[in-house]
Amino acid sequence: MDPKQERIAILDFGSQYTQLIARSIRKARVFCEIHPPHRTAEALAASRPAGIILSGGPNSVTEKGSARPDPAIFRMGVPVLGICYGMHLLTQRLGGEVRAVGAREYGGATLRIDGGDPLFQGLGPTEPVWMSHRDESRVLPDGFRTLATTDTCPAAAIAHQEKRLYGIQFHPEVSHTVHGKELLANFLFRICGCGGHWRSEEILQELIETVRAQIGDARVLCAVSGGVDSAVTALVVHRAIGDRMVCRFVDNGLLRRGEVEEVTAAFKGLFGDRLKVLDGRRQFFQALQGVADPEEKRRIIGHTFIRIFETEVEQIGGLDFLAQGTLYPDRIESTAIRGPSAVIKTHHNVGGLPEKMKLKLVEPLRDLFKDEVRELGRQLGMAESFVRRHPFPGPGLAVRVLGEVDEERVRLLQGVDAIFLEELRRAGLYDQIGQAFAVLLPVRSVGVMGDERTYQQVVALRAVETQDFMTADWAHLEPEFLSLVSRRIVNETPGVNRVVYDISSKPPSTIEWE
Ligand code: XMP
Repeated sequence: MDPKQERIAILDFGSQYTQLIARSIRKARVFCEIHPPHRTAEALAASRPAGIILSGGPNSVTEKGSARPDPAIFRMGVPVLGICYGMHLLTQRLGGEVRAVGAREYGGATLRIDGGDPLFQGLGPTEPVWMSHRDESRVLPDGFRTLATTDTCPAAAIAHQEKRLYGIQFHPEVSHTVHGKELLANFLFRICGCGGHWRSEEILQELIETVRAQIGDARVLCAVSGGVDSAVTALVVHRAIGDRMVCRFVDNGLLRRGEVEEVTAAFKGLFGDRLKVLDGRRQFFQALQGVADPEEKRRIIGHTFIRIFETEVEQIGGLDFLAQGTLYPDRIESTAIRGPSAVIKTHHNVGGLPEKMKLKLVEPLRDLFKDEVRELGRQLGMAESFVRRHPFPGPGLAVRVLGEVDEERVRLLQGVDAIFLEELRRAGLYDQIGQAFAVLLPVRSVGVMGDERTYQQVVALRAVETQDFMTADWAHLEPEFLSLVSRRIVNETPGVNRVVYDISSKPPSTIEWE
């Protein structure tokens, strides 16, 4: 069976959690896609979804002009699960009534379940759940009944059981709802009748075929960054078209210590000598000279990458496509509701290149999440240590050397960063955290070494735990561990006399410092 034939359609009404819903479903090995809120029943029916989920959203269904789904989706005969705003839509569209609760309810609550429905099978009579709402369903539509309540919410879960239409006020997709995954699995397997056939072997085969069909006899440039996404992209393209792929890696001088060697070695093992390293170090350092503003640094780096690639593309000649490691979360920022998400930092890749060089884009990973990409990497023969590499920003250490960037400061930071990562690996902590690195601050501090007063550089260490890099908590590393790292850094790095540890979460901070 084609695993994609069994799919769930999520209509996105703008919830920050929509991607979490999608990931939970895919983790249960059911394919799912996120659609804009106005997608018609007819358009949805074309892909024959086994179930439809209406996401939450920031608006209220009581407001004029708030997004509404096509009412025909409730008549498709397909199970529907409305979450929060999605539940209110279901209530309102089918003739019930939604009202504001007064104060917004935000936080944990205890769900009391009125047993008997497959949605709650295997769950206890009471369950901790996470609430975040202003409205609630006060009058249920005909044929609906209440399946669960909380102290403050008389209709925390409702259903029209024959028509398999469900609404829940809480969020099953967030970890605070302890058995949320089980509830979603019940919806998928017991209510929608899914079998859970979406496997990475099938994903890989399908990607290869799609790339082959898209590219035909053309030639493709893969620009790899040393990260997992672009590496997996290159491998998929290579599997699809073999020698018609050209692979380039720019050494911009802003990489971690030993990175060029590591990446070259990893690629050599994967597809021989197809990777060529372009030495752009001089160009980057020259362009960055005297520039301290973070956005300006990013812009310069983006342009310099493009210039180097332009020259290379001209020299190679005959290229038609540029392959990019764009992932699903990069694409779906619920444009229909919020518009393109606000630019907090200008993330760059070689984004400007395709238009300038008239290259077409091929993005084989565009429907996948990070964990799915890592799984593909494993299947394609990548070493586990490569698959699990922490993400690294395109502008590299330029955004970790705060203020002006020069070779000397980058070299100093590379040394500090290498010590931190080495100790994390040694302690078995590297794989447990999402991302870790060091930052060189643009300040000096007074210290004392032996009998001498020093006035030297300060470095900050940053380690975060995160699911999706959209939010993150600082990693609560043991004081003994931090103390060991700090001692090593100061002892082994001339010019550094102070180490601080960053204890800010995202939001309100970001993961990087610039
Ligand atoms: P922030 O700092 O925005 O970072 O919380 C979230 C994730 O994105 C990475 N990052 C970048 N990646 N180009 C990239 O390719 C960039 O300009 C960039 N800025 C941040 C960051 O390392 C973290 O994983």
